[in-house]
Amino acid sequence: MEGQVCNIGIERKLTEPCSIVIFGASGDLTARKLIPAFYHLCKDGLMPPAFRIIGFARREKSDETWRKELRVALDQFSRTKPVDDGLWNNFAGNLFYCVGNVTDAAAYAKLEQKLNSFQNPKLRHNLLFYLATQPSQFGQIIEQLHNARLLHKEVGEGWQRLVIEKPFGHDLASAKTLNNELTRFAHERQVCRIDHYLGKETVQNILMFRFSNSIFEELWNRESVDHVQITVSEKLGVGDRGGYYEEAGALRDMVQNHMLQVLALVSMEPPVSLEAESIRDEKVKLLKSIRPLTAADFAKQIVRGQYFAGTVDGQPRPGYRQEAKVKPDSNVETYMALKLFIDNWRWSGVPFYLRTGKYLPMSASEVRIQFRPTPNVLFAAECGKKLDPNALTLRLQPNEGISLRFNGKVPGMSLGVRPVRMHFSYDAEFGAYTPEAYERLLLEAIAGDATLFIRRDEVETAWQIVDSIRDGWHGKPLTNREFYAAGTWGPMAADELLAQSGHAWHEPLVIK
Ligand SMILES: NC(=O)c1ccc[n+]([C@@H]2O[C@H](COP(=O)([O-])OP(=O)(O)OC[C@H]3O[C@@H](n4cnc5c(N)ncnc54)[C@H](OP(=O)(O)O)[C@@H]3O)[C@@H](O)[C@H]2O)c1
Repeated sequence: MEGQVCNIGIERKLTEPCSIVIFGASGDLTARKLIPAFYHLCKDGLMPPAFRIIGFARREKSDETWRKELRVALDQFSRTKPVDDGLWNNFAGNLFYCVGNVTDAAAYAKLEQKLNSFQNPKLRHNLLFYLATQPSQFGQIIEQLHNARLLHKEVGEGWQRLVIEKPFGHDLASAKTLNNELTRFAHERQVCRIDHYLGKETVQNILMFRFSNSIFEELWNRESVDHVQITVSEKLGVGDRGGYYEEAGALRDMVQNHMLQVLALVSMEPPVSLEAESIRDEKVKLLKSIRPLTAADFAKQIVRGQYFAGTVDGQPRPGYRQEAKVKPDSNVETYMALKLFIDNWRWSGVPFYLRTGKYLPMSASEVRIQFRPTPNVLFAAECGKKLDPNALTLRLQPNEGISLRFNGKVPGMSLGVRPVRMHFSYDAEFGAYTPEAYERLLLEAIAGDATLFIRRDEVETAWQIVDSIRDGWHGKPLTNREFYAAGTWGPMAADELLAQSGHAWHEPLVIK
């Protein structure tokens, strides 16, 4: 192996015992993501030597029943199979279930009793509260925790932190209300707002890649970059989440959080250090530099769409309006494309194109930096007017890695030039060890490192951008031009959005 590993961050070694309380313990997220993540942290020796996980939900069940259910889920969702029986049995011994309604003060007294039954005082006072219920219940849970003296804003015995699942509000006003509720009973430093994209290796690698490679960072500006494309495409439709999607739509579900986060990481200025606040300061600065959309810009820069019946992989798929729990005349967008400008010194005039949608031809997330073309004076006679410009693609998922496209001579007697690629793939370079995003995020939450969580001003700035787009729609119904067939790359208007500037969407790279 060439080169040495330089561990810039702290190798996480959690030594302080703690208890994790999951509100929403009988739900989908707990079974599919949280418990598998805790199991793997345990497997990798990363959990504190002593810990307890207490599940809290209304459904009646014993510790033993909950453990059995979680084991069945783990067999299905674990990233390593088969599940190790010995390890599971040790792990499962730390799982406890507390029946209760989040609205009921007596339930918090029961939770306290459970915590008090632990011998080690650190297991009673070092507490991570994971809020995985409906977002409308978050405020109430925090207040009840405060009333039960389980959550302390002032420094007291041990530490308490809150992990808040997405969505964080549904507009700026509701996000502010939730932030006010949170900061009534906890300091900002005790709050971990989750965006699971930030837990992905490839997303964390954006900063590593940008700021540890001079050959790219030197080019990372308006002088060299022609435009940037960020694609988060999904091959699935809304499935059984129609009820949720009717409230969210692509803009709230994807753009407000994941896509604006990726945009910020790709385009922010270098932070003064790798401290959480330095990184988050730069992200907020960047989000604030996004040019606000005027009514005139709106038509030229924003495209929405909704899928109608089509085929994906040769299989017929229903239209969005025919999905369960979706209104038959719904105007909710299942597709969004945006052209944004960042009004700062580095990016002035460079378009950033973002697109996301359901029932697109493939599931892929990537960032494509397209560089300016060379002045094609040398090859114009042989190769036509335009040489393909260089492009760097950060493949976030799947086929995680980075690809660089440049031009090369086609072997032979003639002077043919065509684009070729260099690929870096995580699996090929580092083997198959890729922790799930939730593993990293849970570890950071227990350690109290806020870098991978969203700060209050960050979430509010993102909502400001999203609200301005929603305001631009004025509740207008979708027009015919805004529909696309399931299994295609979105409405025609999305292609026209780029064509106005002589650009075109690039299909996400598939590495064989
Ligand atoms: N699932 C995902 O992949 C995913 C991804 C990203 C974000 N999220 C977010 O994570 C949260 C949970 O999602 P989910 O999919 O796990 O939802 P879910 O399957 O509907 O689970 C909701 C949980 O909340 C509990 N609950 C509801 N009302 C309660 C009450 N009054 N008192 C106590 N417990 C109550 C339910 O248990 P009982 O019915 O037994 O009370 C259940 O355990 C949501 O905020 C969601 O937006 C989920």
